[in-house]
Amino acid sequence: MIDPDRFLSDLHMLRQFGASGVGKGVVRRAYSQADIAARDWLAGRMAQAGLSPRFDAMGNLFGLAGEGPGLLLGSHSDSQPEGGWLDGALGVIAALEVARVVPGVSVVSFQDEEGRFGVTTGSAVWSGLLDQDSADALTDHDGVTLAQARAAMADRAGAPVDPARFTGFIELHIEQGPTLDAEGLQIGVVTDIVGIRDMGITYGGQQNHAGTTPMHLRRDAFQALGAFNATINDRFRNVVTPRTVWTIGHVTLHPNASSIVPGRARFSMQWRDAEIDRLDRMEAIIRDTAQEIAAERGLSVDFGPMLGLNPVAMDPSLRAALEAGAETVSPGRWRNLPSGALHDATNVARLMPVAMLFVPSIGGISHAFDEDTDEADLVAGVRVLAEAVRHL
Ligand code: GLV
Ligand code: MN
Ligand code: MN
Repeated sequence: MIDPDRFLSDLHMLRQFGASGVGKGVVRRAYSQADIAARDWLAGRMAQAGLSPRFDAMGNLFGLAGEGPGLLLGSHSDSQPEGGWLDGALGVIAALEVARVVPGVSVVSFQDEEGRFGVTTGSAVWSGLLDQDSADALTDHDGVTLAQARAAMADRAGAPVDPARFTGFIELHIEQGPTLDAEGLQIGVVTDIVGIRDMGITYGGQQNHAGTTPMHLRRDAFQALGAFNATINDRFRNVVTPRTVWTIGHVTLHPNASSIVPGRARFSMQWRDAEIDRLDRMEAIIRDTAQEIAAERGLSVDFGPMLGLNPVAMDPSLRAALEAGAETVSPGRWRNLPSGALHDATNVARLMPVAMLFVPSIGGISHAFDEDTDEADLVAGVRVLAEAVRHL
């Protein structure tokens, strides 16, 4: 039997690693001290649950059940630079609770789902989407390479974990959007996960004195970024749907001083949609616009590596098991819905059937310290997961 107190207590214990002090917030970036300490604690919990803990070279942590093929459950335990206590953590702790009560179930906490270095980096390497050498060359916003960061966990790495030992993967997650909360529902069964593209763009201009350089003589990298943003918002209008999203979330100006015309602006450009074709059309608009603006203003423009994941549909039979579980645990209080957030399940779908279920996010807030979910909904989520796994 699922033990709600044990499950919630573990979830609160995991939050202690990197607890931010603001609400229930968490700061647990991939490969930070807090992340590694949390993984060591999780490995201990896995062992107590009768699973064999195993780290791979990326720092993905598996809790392996027996030898025979069985289901894999889990998510990730790293966080955004400012994150909540449930994003990823819920799916890992729920997996552990289900593994305690259903024999043959294995557990995983993938590394760097939140993309300190790329996009869902740990599961991208495990699934074969990204090779280790290419992953190792990726850098975070401070210029640290993934190879340097993962060296902090090198002494833990065991043999690679063979995906053939798993028959399917199910990930419980918070919705991170407003739908379930607004509709007063308790469970969402995911139909598909959107695709994403992510690329760094750098404008190079002329660093100069902010008092003496006339406006018409400036080659100001920030002004180019501002013009780029306004222009793509306008040009996307004919291409996007109401579900398409795009974000400039990280900007660095050089040298970032009040009295200096910025000589360099580097920014992240990320866009997401359910259709590959639309993602590609947006890419063309982004590249053309960035180049046009650079040419008009006498600046250089450089594009970094394009990272991305394509949209994926969930497996029908795993989905049916989740739907049946949802109807048992929360009759009339669940629905199907797509995921606008990315998940490790996208990568794992390269290897085996995958499915996902959601519980509501209060106010639709996530990737923020005030992310939260009612405890009754968290418990309903783990119960649906257990029902589905028993059924399978
Ligand atoms: C993953 O957290 C995402 O960015 O959707
Ligand atoms: Mn997540
Ligand atoms: Mn996240």
